[in-house]
Amino acid sequence: MGHEVDWDRLRDEAIAMLDRAFAPYSDFPVGVAGLVDDGRIVSGCNVENASYGIGLCAECGMVSQLAASGGGRLVAVACVGRHGIPLMPCGRCRQLLWEHGGATCLLLTPEGVLPMSDVLPQAFGPEDLATAAEAARHEESS
Ligand code: THU
Repeated sequence: MGHEVDWDRLRDEAIAMLDRAFAPYSDFPVGVAGLVDDGRIVSGCNVENASYGIGLCAECGMVSQLAASGGGRLVAVACVGRHGIPLMPCGRCRQLLWEHGGATCLLLTPEGVLPMSDVLPQAFGPEDLATAAEAARHEESS
């Protein structure tokens, strides 16, 4: 596979999303952009709500666009706050990135580029469901 990641481009796409953010409650706009394994770029911004707890993180919008535009795997992601400062995705969003990018997906962090396996160690993922289902089958047949 070996994707050459243009981090400047990805970061610029994430920065462009800051203007689209709907963050009147936190005044904390977030933009995110991801490179997909077929070369396209998907992006998102946070969309808050008067019912504070149901606000959507930028990454939610990005993975929704990923699915809606044809799916695929995320290979690199840049998430930024104001002035383009790299942001660590929240816990829930790390799980979203894990689902759609897995252990090898690269993330631009304040400490440089890191694989998701460093960002979400011992992650729970789809294979854990398969393992549990397999264990249940063994249980039934014994
Ligand atoms: N936020 C994101 O969009 N992504 C994250 O990973 C962290 C937090 C948003 C949620 C809320 O709209 C604002 O940042 C302040 O928490």
